[in-house]
Amino acid sequence: MLLPAVIGWLFQLCLIFPMSSAVSWEEWWTYDGISGPAFWGLINPEWSLCNKGRRQSPVNLEPNKLLFDPNLRPLHVDKHRVSGSMMNTGHSVIFNVENDTRQHINVTGGPLSYKYQFQEIHVHYGLHDQFGSEHSINGYAFPAEIQIFGFNSQLYSNFSEALHKAQGIVVISLLLQLGDLSNPELRILTDQLEKIRYGGEEIEVKRLSVRGLLPETDYYMTYDGSTTMPACHETVTWLILNKPIYITKQQMLGLRRLMQGDAKHPKAPLGNNFRPPQPLHHRPVRTNIDFNVKHRSDTKQCPSMYNNVYYKANSWRQH
Ligand SMILES: *[C@@H]1O[C@H](CO)[C@@H](O)[C@H](O)[C@H]1NC(C)=O
Ligand SMILES: *[C@@H]1O[C@H](CO)[C@@H](O)[C@H](O)[C@H]1NC(C)=O
Ligand SMILES: *[C@@H]1O[C@H](CO)[C@@H](O)[C@H](O)[C@H]1NC(C)=O
Repeated sequence: MLLPAVIGWLFQLCLIFPMSSAVSWEEWWTYDGISGPAFWGLINPEWSLCNKGRRQSPVNLEPNKLLFDPNLRPLHVDKHRVSGSMMNTGHSVIFNVENDTRQHINVTGGPLSYKYQFQEIHVHYGLHDQFGSEHSINGYAFPAEIQIFGFNSQLYSNFSEALHKAQGIVVISLLLQLGDLSNPELRILTDQLEKIRYGGEEIEVKRLSVRGLLPETDYYMTYDGSTTMPACHETVTWLILNKPIYITKQQMLGLRRLMQGDAKHPKAPLGNNFRPPQPLHHRPVRTNIDFNVKHRSDTKQCPSMYNNVYYKANSWRQH
């Protein structure tokens, strides 16, 4: 029984840190041990969805169970470059856009009924190449996943409000594969990692093209889910693009050199910051990959979507 252990631990924490406004719940969760993903929903009543929710993320995507939906449009992400800051939060590396109203990047189309405004980017990665991504394809995890967050700017006034509201958030998810040449925009982020070696450190990032991070594909998978960190709000429309982007071994090493704590108490290396896949509970995962159009050369019209999913056909490695 692990539950008494958690309660005991919480009780101890309360003794050490009385619940004052100076202590933030934000820091009281981890990716392993007794404050790890299995316990997020028990640590704080406001995070109960992390355990009780039935529309949670991430999920394992199974290409042969995708539903083709002809109503899905191409995704649109504005092209222009934005500046912001990149921070080692101790849980992740997060790029946050500067809130200069003149240069919002809008995200529209795809499965979205509203206009979303780009807000931040999260990086999840493994300390080893075999895992790191939050979403997996047929049980196969990637060494890293980059998540691009936007909030519904037609209904809500800012990101924090939208996080817990209906249709509040969109996340575009990029699965990363090791390669000899990095995605060029990704380099803008990884080039500066040394300056945020420790938790709490932050640097300025200039002229990042979010669109430039995206792989060249119009195809994606989409489902309704949650944020993958506490409070696990079920307000996220997820889009997982149907092609990886590339990261070099050197860049991965740069990420793995980051530490969770500050310079005096560096604690453990930052990494393995992924939540395990959550049950789908009968949610559909839709796609705009139209197998009929793509394989027309075959007169038989006996399509197998299975063959047209990039991760299955070109990238998914048997092991
Ligand atoms: C961005 O907006 C937040 C509140 O929404 C404000 O506290 C902060 O100062 C703003 N940052 C800049 C750089 O304007
Ligand atoms: C994004 O949407 C906002 C609000 O509707 C609009 O003012 C802005 O011009 C749009 N940005 C671009 C680049 O189209
Ligand atoms: C976000 O919007 C809500 C509702 O309008 C407001 O109460 C809150 O202060 C805003 N938060 C930030 C960080 O601007």
